[in-house]
Amino acid sequence: MSASVLLLLGLLTAVSADCIVYSDNSCKANCSGTVLDISNLVTYPYQIDINQNDGTPIGKYFSYNPCQGIGCVSTDDNSAVCLIKDSSEKVSCGLITSSSTVWQLISSDPYEFTIQYGCDIGADCQASLFTFTQTKDKDVSVAYTGGSTDYYEFAIKGKCVGQNSCEEPHHEDAVDVTGLPGLILILLCLVGLATYFIAGILVMKFVKGATGKELIPNYAFWSDLPYLIKDGCLFVVSPCLQRKIDYEKI
Ligand SMILES: *[C@@H]1O[C@H](CO)[C@@H](O)[C@H](O)[C@H]1NC(C)=O
Repeated sequence: MSASVLLLLGLLTAVSADCIVYSDNSCKANCSGTVLDISNLVTYPYQIDINQNDGTPIGKYFSYNPCQGIGCVSTDDNSAVCLIKDSSEKVSCGLITSSSTVWQLISSDPYEFTIQYGCDIGADCQASLFTFTQTKDKDVSVAYTGGSTDYYEFAIKGKCVGQNSCEEPHHEDAVDVTGLPGLILILLCLVGLATYFIAGILVMKFVKGATGKELIPNYAFWSDLPYLIKDGCLFVVSPCLQRKIDYEKI
């Protein structure tokens, strides 16, 4: 009963929907000019796990094969999804035939769309609803998100979702600026130091007529610097060394 209502609903939506599934590829649809393609999203057939700790598990796993179809209940039923309950029992979760499949484009930037796989009237079958969402995640994730009375529901996410060839989402910043401010600061410091020494040396040479080591501006400070650093370090470390130094004093 619910299956036939669904099929009716599916047919009605199919008439008004903007997406037309390619006759030679059930993994590709044209939604008023936006071509959606899931042919290479993952390697099919794809095994979708069922969380066995989640109440009463409905079965072992789903097998998803939307481009070729799976002989799930019989060898030629062309299922998009097949629920493997145990080694002998399988249930079809929707067909790949164009009359059973409805694609709906929700947004194209980022891509978001749904594919609904319906059942033949009277068949022992429960329809499926897949929601595809383009995210920034490099890896594609496929998850069973639960069952309602009408559908088994699934969510597929990743940056390649919906595209023929995978590209970055176009609204994303192309340049990664992480660390750029720090780099600029370090460069400015280096340039400042270099200017200081070069200008200093010129001043010492031509204004003060210095030679040799005396050419280095503030020579006394710079030559003391290593000792200052050493003292500073000792001051920080000394509490730990105190006992040892005390022993040495004795
Ligand atoms: C997609 O469909 C539109 C009409 O909705 C058509 O103008 C366009 O040529 C089609 N594109 C492809 C690639 O089939």
